[in-house]
Amino acid sequence: MHNADLIAELKQKTIDFGSLRQLLQTHTREDDETLFAAARSVREKYYGKTVFLRGLIEFTSYCKNDCRYCGLRRGNAKAERYRLTPENIYACCAEGYALGLRTFVLQGGEDAYFTDARMCEIVRAIRKKYPDCAITLSLGERDAASYQAMYDAGADRYLLRHETANAAHYAVLHPQNMQLSTRLDALRQLKQIGYQVGCGFMVGSPGQTIECLLDDLMFLQSFQPDMVGIGPFLPHKDTPFANEKAGTLEETLFLLALIRLLLPHVLLPATTALGTAHHAGREKGLLAGANVLMPNLSPVAVRKKYMLYDGKICTGEESAQCAHCLRRRVESVGCTIAVDRGDPVSI
Ligand code: 5AD
Ligand code: FES
Repeated sequence: MHNADLIAELKQKTIDFGSLRQLLQTHTREDDETLFAAARSVREKYYGKTVFLRGLIEFTSYCKNDCRYCGLRRGNAKAERYRLTPENIYACCAEGYALGLRTFVLQGGEDAYFTDARMCEIVRAIRKKYPDCAITLSLGERDAASYQAMYDAGADRYLLRHETANAAHYAVLHPQNMQLSTRLDALRQLKQIGYQVGCGFMVGSPGQTIECLLDDLMFLQSFQPDMVGIGPFLPHKDTPFANEKAGTLEETLFLLALIRLLLPHVLLPATTALGTAHHAGREKGLLAGANVLMPNLSPVAVRKKYMLYDGKICTGEESAQCAHCLRRRVESVGCTIAVDRGDPVSI
């Protein structure tokens, strides 16, 4: 079958994974354009031309893990470590709220300092002050009781990328003490508790094959996450993957569009990594079916210390600058920003 017919099928949601494999193996630039148009029309059917913003607060750069791709890995002695105080975090929220943001994402490394008691206190304070906002957590793997306590304190959403749904590939990206099964269990627990859950992976990470990507897409199809975060792998100079090739803009856009077609209701960010890979990466992401952007709300004083990969953008700008910059970018592709929590449309 021709790829154009496969894409038409995909739009009807009847594609099988054999066809998906063919598309992954043989897609051309022309197929990509067809796919982007299909992804845009599906996004518009459910979300119109609305783009939702999530204010990202990178509140700790300490991490106990040693993921081979990440600049914040424990083994990177050159990484500068910091923790924001609760007051710092609340100030970021206040600034974000004034800029029209209605989702705050508290993201950090796996940092034992932020115990359940500390996290719950922070979540409760934000929940009380901003009843109209969504609180998203992105703190890695914790036990189910911890996820439950933070949910009870008022958190609504949790982002935990699965990184790859292929166990052998997971072992290429992570040290032995980290396992795909643990990650998938955590994702299931989060969903079971009632969080809106986001998973995701890097495109072009070392060792990633088409079979790995197929596993990722099959996992997304069965898990049915509310959000999917994907971006190109970008090397960080002080990690074991310093000399590995970066993932490409084109392949990331292609996967964004596929994910939009497979999960029509999904909330899909055009990520900072995509904006780092290409100056117009995020705009192109919106044109390939993405509908979320994540402006950085972290204090400028710490931004350069949250270096997941080399060249990360938005590390010198103030929050207001990022918010205005994103507004311009969104308008340049004919979309509009909503001052809204941006919950998934109900199915
Ligand atoms: N390149 C691209 N993305 C990265 N992440 C971590 N390190 C890198 C890198 N070198 C992503 C991971 C993680 C998220 C917070 O950032 O997917 O889950
Ligand atoms: Fe931060 Fe453009 S979004 S400077």
